[in-house]
Amino acid sequence: MKDMLERLEDRRAQARLGGGEKRIAAQHARGKLTARERIELLLDHGSFEEFDMFVEHRSTDFGMEKSKIPGDGVVTGWGTVNGRTVFVFAKDFTVFGGSLSEAHANKIMKVQDMALKMRAPIVGLFDAGGARIQEGVAALGGYGEVFKRNVIASGVIPQISVIMGPCAGGDVYSPAMTDFIFMVRDRSYMFVTGPEVVKTVTNETVTSEELGGARIHTTKSSVADGAFDNDVEALLQVRRLIDFLPSNNLDGVPEIPSFDDPRRTDDSLDTLIPDHPNKPYDMKELILKVVDEGDFFEIQEAFARNIITGFCRIEGRSVGIVANQPMVLAGVLDSDASRKAARFIRFCDAFNIPIVTFEDVPGFLPGTSQEYGGLIKHGAKLLFAYSEATVPLVTVITRKAFGGAYDVMASKHVGGDVNYAWPTAQIAVMGAKGAVEIIFRQDIGDADKIAARTKEYEDRFMSPFVAAERGYIDEVIMPHSTRRRIARALAMLRAKEVERPWKKHDNIPL
Ligand code: HXC
Repeated sequence: MKDMLERLEDRRAQARLGGGEKRIAAQHARGKLTARERIELLLDHGSFEEFDMFVEHRSTDFGMEKSKIPGDGVVTGWGTVNGRTVFVFAKDFTVFGGSLSEAHANKIMKVQDMALKMRAPIVGLFDAGGARIQEGVAALGGYGEVFKRNVIASGVIPQISVIMGPCAGGDVYSPAMTDFIFMVRDRSYMFVTGPEVVKTVTNETVTSEELGGARIHTTKSSVADGAFDNDVEALLQVRRLIDFLPSNNLDGVPEIPSFDDPRRTDDSLDTLIPDHPNKPYDMKELILKVVDEGDFFEIQEAFARNIITGFCRIEGRSVGIVANQPMVLAGVLDSDASRKAARFIRFCDAFNIPIVTFEDVPGFLPGTSQEYGGLIKHGAKLLFAYSEATVPLVTVITRKAFGGAYDVMASKHVGGDVNYAWPTAQIAVMGAKGAVEIIFRQDIGDADKIAARTKEYEDRFMSPFVAAERGYIDEVIMPHSTRRRIARALAMLRAKEVERPWKKHDNIPL
């Protein structure tokens, strides 16, 4: 018996060594942790239960039968994050470069199936070279199975991918179908085909970093939702994100004790809006002053910064924030901002997370580059996302709500449940200058007349009251009371139920 126990311990120790001490040292030398070290940091201390530690590949091509490593390049299992069950798989770069074989794919599929069965989030930690080249189509088949499971689980359990090293070929498409992708700066990159293939096919010379580093994917392509400086920071932030998320689409949002009074007022908000309508102010100041303990987890912070998306809590319950940012492009809606916010809204709606919208938007961005780039379709994504959302929607118009953007940004007409405006709100088809130049074109040469017309327009339309008179705004509120008003609205809306006609699925303008 003792022998058997020792043999088990030996086999476990051998499996834990992965590709061996030399490769572990190389991994550390690159500033990267090993798969098991990463899992230890992600999960609550000592909570990891590993599956399939002894699984080996069955390939016999290219002499592969002589090199078998227990675990076969991926560590899988489950544990807890602040007490809640989370499934995990972590690519082990020390074993065949973390590449995916048939057996390796089966391990991932097992935790995907288990996560779905248990309706618990799944986190994938990526650091790998794509399909195991020696296995050919068996590896490709494995990827297909993983992708399919990603799609079936989408909208049922949160799926999070963290890119912590190379991520190429098949390894990029599984993350791409998950809810959130995070990267580690300077150590991770994602691309479908690497720099060598790019050189051969297009004759472009690029580095891995230029082709698919964290900066590119968080600022340009918007493939990634955030980037962190190192493995430790990335994993701790993913833990923080998980705390905001429900375990599945039926559980409802997590609730934690809040020590921030929901009735708290903030007088500084009464002077947040500058005197001049074209002067910017920082919408993040409003967000941080309204949410519980100023705790805000921003999604896609570095991309389309003219709109802000992220998670916070109000009265201890998770809420999604969507807010125009007057500091960047005056908070205008362009294609990127529309796509970014639409995706975020759809995540919140799928997982029953209420959405609070802070609105200060001068309209959609005009110009050929936007129109040629499909602004109509991208703007429609945002309109579609808000209109199909059945979660509680609370909107606060702080300043401008012009034109189509007024309709789009969770107005009453597309489903806003409680719509507030600050006294500084201006709800109109467009700003005074543009409006007067169109409807009083005949007076354009006469400065006095134009000034009088502008004043007339401003007095009538550049306020929240025309909309409030029609009931499009439920109440004009004092800025200092914004947190209290939102908290009360969200509390009232907890029981919200909406019936929609049956359909197989919608046809969002992709
Ligand atoms: C088998 C692989 C491998 C792979 C790396 N290794 N990638 N083994 N299949 N795909 C092994 C290496 O042989 C090496 O083994 C170890 O992993 C570390 O690799 P290195 O090249 O030494 O490391 P590094 O210099 O850091 O480069 C990492 C890398 C590079 C950029 C990932 O290895 C690379 O380009 N790999 C191939 C990427 C690729 O083209 N994959 C196929 C994509 S096609 P030893 O024994 O020396 O430690 C694909 C199709 C799916 O994925 C499509 C589905 C839609």
